[in-house]
Amino acid sequence: MQFHIEKDKVLIIDFGSQVTKLIARRIRDLGVYSDIITPEELNKIKSYKNIKGLILSGGPSTVTSIKFQSIPEEIFKKKIPVLGICYGLQLIAKIFGGKIKPSKKRREFGRAILLKKKSSLLTKNFLNSKRNVWMSHEDAVVKLPKNFKTIGSTKNSNLTIIENSKNKIYGVQFHPEVTHTDKGQQIFKNFLFLICKIKKKWNVTSQKTRLIKEIKERVKKDKVICALSGGVDSSVVALLINKAIKTNLICIMVDTGLMRKNEFTYTYKIFKNKYRLNVKLINASNLFLKKLKNVSNPEKKRKIIGSLFIKIFEKESKKYKNIKFLAQGTLYPDIIESRSTTGSKTSKIKSHHNVGGLPKKMNLKLIEPLKEFFKDEVRILGKSLGLIKSINLKHPFPGPGLGIRILGNITPERVRILQEADYIYIQELIKSGLYPKIWQAYAALLPIKTVGVMGDSRTYENICLLRAVTSEDGMTADYFSFPKFFLDSISNKIVNNVKGINRVVYDITSKPPSTIELE
Ligand code: XMP
Repeated sequence: MQFHIEKDKVLIIDFGSQVTKLIARRIRDLGVYSDIITPEELNKIKSYKNIKGLILSGGPSTVTSIKFQSIPEEIFKKKIPVLGICYGLQLIAKIFGGKIKPSKKRREFGRAILLKKKSSLLTKNFLNSKRNVWMSHEDAVVKLPKNFKTIGSTKNSNLTIIENSKNKIYGVQFHPEVTHTDKGQQIFKNFLFLICKIKKKWNVTSQKTRLIKEIKERVKKDKVICALSGGVDSSVVALLINKAIKTNLICIMVDTGLMRKNEFTYTYKIFKNKYRLNVKLINASNLFLKKLKNVSNPEKKRKIIGSLFIKIFEKESKKYKNIKFLAQGTLYPDIIESRSTTGSKTSKIKSHHNVGGLPKKMNLKLIEPLKEFFKDEVRILGKSLGLIKSINLKHPFPGPGLGIRILGNITPERVRILQEADYIYIQELIKSGLYPKIWQAYAALLPIKTVGVMGDSRTYENICLLRAVTSEDGMTADYFSFPKFFLDSISNKIVNNVKGINRVVYDITSKPPSTIELE
């Protein structure tokens, strides 16, 4: 993984925790650049000149087994401040001669009350007497390593925060990066500004000029092709590259017919007329619907949509000469997730096609200008590029579109029904001011019909399911708590206005155990 050399950065060593990404987010939110690397990548670093702090993440490994994930002990001799979180704390304790016990009986998951033992720079303005924190561990440090002190404890663990202030090495058993830890950001603030003494320098907008310059220098007079969907990521990629190489960027919009109501032609017009992009719209709806006829298996649908999309895109791109590059809206979380981390063997739940989705055989070099950024950083970039709010603040939309929101068979009629219901739902969310408070909302059609009564007649129609979730990155999510009157009114509006729906239900599961999409 090769990122630009950013002065003054913090490195996060990822031991495979599900929430490592959040650490990077918290640090960047404080105006400091941070990268996540694997323990293996740490060994390959040649110069530590710009590294002002190291954070060791949590992870599923245990230092109580004979083989465990570690880092070279020399790292601690470089006088770079270190903060270990959860597994990171246990690793520090192990390396410096402390004792760690697998405490199955006293394991802590969820909220715990942290009590103050001593004052510390790390806990300044965070721990005056006690604080609610979030724990997720089985092992615990039971004997302090030499030259370390205890700063905080919980009922189950006496050594919840430890420090060696002389050598600037700190460890916390709880997770300050998750929102369930009350005021957790203060821990990072103290670590960065009081301990690492790093300066606030980094912000997304200031990266724009650098990115445009890098694209210009790389592409020169060649052409770049890009699949524009009208979602935030591909829109920001297109605007950014267009700023660098003007109409040498060719944007292809493939209408699969599985997009939200009216959205595709609207987006096409915006990019063509307002931003003057070199954009071509291809209407392939009939083709997609034909290929999807009688297909109800979710993975089959995904594969059909994905491969047909690639085929059409490839065919279209062959009409242009001198194309050397393919631009993609790959984000930082995509890069981290697709990388193999020894400790994080996540199982494949659904086949997404974000990373390396377009064909290798096209023989094009990849341009991925957003690969350093998180989604909301991309929106900041979008705003500074003048991207209109209705696109820049749009909720994420899956590549297979409504194809994976129409459960069971996909027919033109069912696409129409869903588009209408989804349109009403989203418009109501916008009107009520709830839209920006929700990370992702959509309507779906369930594969069963139920009986209803309208006027004096019996109906036998579709069920529309509404989903709305809050989330930080789509990896975990909570369902959104609507006021009752909103649910009442939206159910009414959908049933009264969309012919083919006689029942509306609201999904109240979080992720996990559910996922955000239904298929
Ligand atoms: P899940 O359903 O896995 O979704 O909880 C997490 C996020 O990913 C989006 N998603 C997809 N995006 N291709 C995509 O480009 C896909 O096949 C796909 N499936 C899910 C989903 O909308 C949510 O934002």
